Amino acid sequence: MTLYTLFGNPVAHSLSPRMHNLAFARLGIQGAYMRSLLEDGERLREVFFALKLNGANVTVPHKEAAFRACDKVLGIATSIKAVNTLINDNGVLVGYNTDAPGFLRAIASFKTVRSALILGAGGTAKALAYALRETGIAPTILNRSAPKLEAFQKDGFACFTHETFSLTPFDLIINTTSAGLSDNALPASKAVLEALFTHASYVFEVIYKPTPFLALASAHGLTCKDGKEMLLWQGVLAFNLFHHNTLAEETIATAMQEALRLSS
Ligand SMILES: NC(=O)c1ccc[n+]([C@@H]2O[C@H](COP(=O)([O-])OP(=O)(O)OC[C@H]3O[C@@H](n4cnc5c(N)ncnc54)[C@H](OP(=O)(O)O)[C@@H]3O)[C@@H](O)[C@H]2O)c1
Repeated sequence: MTLYTLFGNPVAHSLSPRMHNLAFARLGIQGAYMRSLLEDGERLREVFFALKLNGANVTVPHKEAAFRACDKVLGIATSIKAVNTLINDNGVLVGYNTDAPGFLRAIASFKTVRSALILGAGGTAKALAYALRETGIAPTILNRSAPKLEAFQKDGFACFTHETFSLTPFDLIINTTSAGLSDNALPASKAVLEALFTHASYVFEVIYKPTPFLALASAHGLTCKDGKEMLLWQGVLAFNLFHHNTLAEETIATAMQEALRLSS
C-alpha cells in the first residue's frame, strides 16, 4: 500500500483526496490519499518523512516552503520556485509543479492566443506566467498593488498596477486573484474589464466555481473556462508522477472527472 497526502492550510475543502482515491480504485492500485492540515510550512519535510509518505501534493500557502524543502526540483518548478507535487525517491525529496502544465492542458482548446493578460501576482499567477512563456507567449501582469509585482519585473515580465495600467488589447484574459472566491468582487474595475473583453476572445478563471468575473465575460460573448479542468489536469499529472509516468493519462482523467462530477 502506498500513501499520499495533501498539505495545506486550509485543506478541508479540497477535492484532491476524492480525485486521487477514486483513481486508485478505478485503476486497481493499492494506495490511499489523505489530507494533512499543516500550519507551519517549515515543518513540511519533517512531517512528510514522519508520515512515511510515498508522495504528496501541496496547496496554499505552502508551495514556496515545499520548494525550499526539496533535495531536488525538476521541470518548470525551478523557474516558478513553487512546488505542488512531492515524491519520495528512496529518501530523496523531489519536487515538481503540475499547476503550470495543468493550466496549459486546460487552455489547449483556445486556438489562437498570441497575447495574454494575467490579473493577480500571487503564486498561481507565477505558475501560469511561466507556463505561457514556455509556449512563446509573454504575458502581461496586472495587479491591484505593487509589492508582488517585483518578482515578475525582475524576471522580465511587463507589469502594471491598477493605477499604472493603460488599455491595450489581449487575446486571453486570466483571473488568478481570489476576487469572487467568497465575495462578489471583480479582480479589476468593471470599466477596465469591459474594455478588455471588447478586444479579447478567451477568458480563463482559476477559481472552479461561478464568479462575477466569469459572468461578466460570458455576458460579453467570450469563450470562457473556469478552473475545473486545471484542477483535473494538475491532479492527473501529479498522479502519473507518483507512478513514474507509467499510466495512461486519459484513464486517470476519466476516474478523476468522475470524482469531480460526484462532488459537484
Ligand atoms: N484551479 C486550480 O487548479 C487552482 C490551482 C491553484 C490556485 N487556484 C486558485 O487561485 C487563486 C489564487 O491563489 P494564489 O495562491 O495565487 O493566491 P495569492 O498568492 O494569495 O495571490 C492572490 C492575488 O490576488 C490578488 N487579490 C486578492 N483579492 C483581490 C481583490 N479583491 N481584487 C483584486 N485583486 C485581489 C492579490 O493582490 P495583492 O497583491 O494586491 O494582495 C494577489 O495578487 C485562489 O482562488 C486559488 O483557489 C486554483
